[in-house]
Amino acid sequence: MEQRIRALREQMEQRLGQVDSKEKLAAFWQEYLGKKGSIAELMKGLGAVSKEDRPAMGKVINEFKAQAEARYKALNEKMEQLELAARNRLEAVDITLPAQKRPLGGLHPLTIVKDEMINVFAGMGFEIFEGPEVEDDDHNFTRLNVPKDHPSRDMQDTFYLGGDLLLRTQTSGGQIRVMDLEKPPIKVLVPGRVFRSDSDATHSPMFHQMEGLVVDKHITLCDLQGLLDKFVKQIFDADVKTRLRPSYFPFTEPSVEVDVSCFECGGKGCSLCKHTGWIEVLGGGVVHPHVLENCGIDPKEYSGIAFGIGIERITMLKYGINNIGLLFENDLRFLKQFKE
Ligand code: DAH
Repeated sequence: MEQRIRALREQMEQRLGQVDSKEKLAAFWQEYLGKKGSIAELMKGLGAVSKEDRPAMGKVINEFKAQAEARYKALNEKMEQLELAARNRLEAVDITLPAQKRPLGGLHPLTIVKDEMINVFAGMGFEIFEGPEVEDDDHNFTRLNVPKDHPSRDMQDTFYLGGDLLLRTQTSGGQIRVMDLEKPPIKVLVPGRVFRSDSDATHSPMFHQMEGLVVDKHITLCDLQGLLDKFVKQIFDADVKTRLRPSYFPFTEPSVEVDVSCFECGGKGCSLCKHTGWIEVLGGGVVHPHVLENCGIDPKEYSGIAFGIGIERITMLKYGINNIGLLFENDLRFLKQFKE
């Protein structure tokens, strides 16, 4: 019997070399450790061994069994590791591969133009100030030299909110807020949303303006013309001319309407300029002495210029947009055209 065990052990060691899959490992287990395996059979055979030899033989069989179990365990572990390594190789992610491109949005045309406008003025040393959209009567009208019951209030269809509050109809109130905070020299831009009860192809109840204010010693209308001339040349990217026409705003004296020579036809006359050769782009003027006084600035010592530009108007002119509604409908077919 001892010889048979030795032979079986040797045979097992040889068999080990051939086990290279889970299936073969299971067969190996059946062959030696299974219910009908060699070791179980040896155990059964112990009954036929003499009483004296039985303990020694039992020990040898048990050693064989321990050996078989150890071999099985080691092989099983090895196989699991190999399997894991193979799976890792299969599922490996190559982090150096280029990522899938995700579609990116673009800037809204109004944002593009607003940023361009800010850039032009920032180049001239203007700072940015933002006032509140819910404004009081005082800042939106009264201190801008528009007293209560003054007919010029009817120039703008105001949304009143009750009490003294309203949705600002213009960014001009920002002038008052800036002069309350700072003393001259002042050079600011006030961009923002404004609101008026008005709606047609060129008017929207909500639109955007950019206010400009310069207050210092010896500021004149010439400074306004020079500054705006530079602005329109840059914003329309053309060698356009500016023209000032007399106008009326309560907070400026004199007040002007600023026209640019038509950048489409060069001044000859076309549909864009309605065959006049000129396009109206903004309003402005010399700050009324009352407005400076209302902010505690001595008009004998200081003077100022101010202007208000409609951002929608500049955007529509620049891109040939004929209906203001397009700027607020958010139709992707329209917006995609502005993607850089
Ligand atoms: N606030 C005026 C408007 O909404 C535009 C304007 C005109 C602003 C003259 C100014 C200015 O600062 O000086 O129609």
